[in-house]
Amino acid sequence: MSRHATPVPMTARKSGPLTGEAQVPGDKSISHRSLILGALAVGETTITGLLDGEDVLDTAAAMRAFGAEITEAGGVWTVHGVGTGGFAEPADVIDCGNSGTGVRLIMGSMATTPITATFTGDASLRSRPMGRVTDPLAAFGARAHGRQGGRLPLTLVGAADPVPVRYAVPVPSAQVKSAVLLAGLNAPGETVVIEREATRDHTERMLAGFGARITTETTNEGRVITLTGQPELSPQTITVPRDPSSAAFPVCAALVTEGSDVLVPNIGLNPTRAGLFETLRDMGADLTYENLREEGGEPVADLRARFSPDLRGIEVPPERAASMIDEYPVLSVVAAFAEGRTVMRGVKELRVKESDRIDAMAQGLRAAGVEVEEGEDWWIVTGRGFGDVPGGVTVESRLDHRIAMSFLILGLASNRPVTVDDAAPIATSFPVFEPLMTGLGADIARQTEPA
Ligand code: S3P
Repeated sequence: MSRHATPVPMTARKSGPLTGEAQVPGDKSISHRSLILGALAVGETTITGLLDGEDVLDTAAAMRAFGAEITEAGGVWTVHGVGTGGFAEPADVIDCGNSGTGVRLIMGSMATTPITATFTGDASLRSRPMGRVTDPLAAFGARAHGRQGGRLPLTLVGAADPVPVRYAVPVPSAQVKSAVLLAGLNAPGETVVIEREATRDHTERMLAGFGARITTETTNEGRVITLTGQPELSPQTITVPRDPSSAAFPVCAALVTEGSDVLVPNIGLNPTRAGLFETLRDMGADLTYENLREEGGEPVADLRARFSPDLRGIEVPPERAASMIDEYPVLSVVAAFAEGRTVMRGVKELRVKESDRIDAMAQGLRAAGVEVEEGEDWWIVTGRGFGDVPGGVTVESRLDHRIAMSFLILGLASNRPVTVDDAAPIATSFPVFEPLMTGLGADIARQTEPA
């Protein structure tokens, strides 16, 4: 959806110390899944802590279009689900805005129901590959008609007589895995998904929570996930944990701004999501997990991040990539303030996110005076050390929330201000980013006059 007719330029200036508590919003991945599985259960699911970012609101609107009743009152969301296979045919085009997760999971969830739906999104989403999802959905019997390269707008005709599928996911993608599992819900028999590298496992955990029969085995092929189709999903009461991918921004901001000490409470540390925090610690960050505990079967902690002037570049273990895939942009900013090279390999998925994130960060960092080398599947940032990043640039956010937020963090510790041409996309995942960061003491402001 092109909600943002007018760009919102935003500037970050040298700041510090950042202090206080950062209450980051609910997890985006879990929020999408709560709405979709709530819509596929029979009866009333209630959700608290749902992220009210644009991506998730688009998924809520889509679930209504497929027949679920969804309301919100006082921060509690109620979803009246229609049951597995119960989706109605939407009367209009489904607009998933900026959200790859939204569109791919929703396509999966309708692909084995005999209805037709047409999907679109904003310019970023319309440029992203959908064949990775429509190919396995075709194996269930669904038919997709998209633009060249399988791009949106795309019409999906759900299978009338779906067959279960055994599918080895060719790219490390939780979205593809989840689309196949959601399609498998309305296919008779066992759908099997095999992933060589472990990606975020929220769909598996949540399907089990809603009462589906699902098992995961680790074999020499990788993780083998087996789902028994056509369960009756029972409605749930869900508390969405806070998003580690959003926590990354105040954490990284605190590490690079002088004198900072920030607490980021209640962050989910699911091992399929927490790779950034391990990497920062490997770089010498003063980042601690306080009050480590289990909540709803997931490890949770309060993160404390303090100014860390002696960060050093490292080789990020490539096998960690899936567990921090959304965090490489902000890691590259931290790397700019470290001593030495931060080497990031096995990351070609970054090129098909909301933007080509390697290209977006490399161009902006170079303009800000930081050396970046790159190849199709890797990039290396040569840090300048704390206090020595020039900044003084305006960069493009390319309809990508994480690119916008990452460059604003850069501006908090570079010598001259950093402006992003459009901060509006931040509302897709972190609508309170600006007040939260300024509340900690960050000098971030919408720009009313030319820089
Ligand atoms: C997500 C999976 C990841 C991630 C995205 C959210 C999810 O994408 O980048 O922000 O919720 O499943 P891929 O699975 O395509 O890597």
